[in-house]
Amino acid sequence: MRLWSRSRRDEGLTVGLVPTMGYFHEGHLRLIEQAKAIADTVVVSLFVNPIQFGPQEDLAAYPRDLARDRAAALARGADCLFVPTEGDMYPAPQVVRVVPGSLADHLCGARRPGHFEGVLTVVLKLLNIVEPQVAVFGRKDVQQAVLIRRMVGDLNVATEIVIAPTVREADGLAMSSRNAYLTPEERRVAPALARGLEAAHAAFAAGVRDVGALLAAARAPIEEVGALALEYLEIVDPVSLAPSDAPGEESIVAVAARLGAARLIDNVTLGEGTSGDVRVGA
Ligand code: PAF
Repeated sequence: MRLWSRSRRDEGLTVGLVPTMGYFHEGHLRLIEQAKAIADTVVVSLFVNPIQFGPQEDLAAYPRDLARDRAAALARGADCLFVPTEGDMYPAPQVVRVVPGSLADHLCGARRPGHFEGVLTVVLKLLNIVEPQVAVFGRKDVQQAVLIRRMVGDLNVATEIVIAPTVREADGLAMSSRNAYLTPEERRVAPALARGLEAAHAAFAAGVRDVGALLAAARAPIEEVGALALEYLEIVDPVSLAPSDAPGEESIVAVAARLGAARLIDNVTLGEGTSGDVRVGA
């Protein structure tokens, strides 16, 4: 992989990387398109990274369809698919790992011990293998995006990190490979999460600045749908990810909820709501 990448760079071409765990939806394909708009050649990595899954999580069940992914990625501009095996990535136990520090104390990090250590470790490995000038990640996983940016800054990694907008279904549901776990009835009610985030944005736009009131506005549409079990709903600082007691335009409203077999996450910037996101088929 590194030789391929270095040959492209020797030819004077820039290399972009889109790290993924496969089972592509439109959100992934937009990341590939965005990378292609920035870099001359695009590498898409597909690797379901075992070290970012907890023992009770869905590693074995995680959806996979390499043939379909390959065709879709190539059709949207990928020049190279990097599909390492677990043995390629972890020929020996990964003893040295990237420790995320306090940014992982909040949101998903607080509920998924070791998750971001696994994410940062595999992302740093991928960046070192592919040596891209630019790498593109989705905004839906906002804590991951903030942590990767921070890692690249703190560890002087020579890759620019681009964060692409969340891609939503026509009814507002943020696209995720895990949406595949939803039954038709769960899929019908899942957009309540995005409606909750929009409600917080609307309240903020109407002048509400009290955190409790903003969160109550967000909670109402979510609780109306009995099936969604909230894991967290918080307004956090965009840099530290710590809960914010003086919410502003840039503050992030982040939510995680369980719906049947799926754990869904979503977020918006309080000042923008979903207006900066991409809606497909609306
Ligand atoms: O967002 C994902 O799909 C994964 O966390 C990533 C960044 C590919 C690392 O395994």
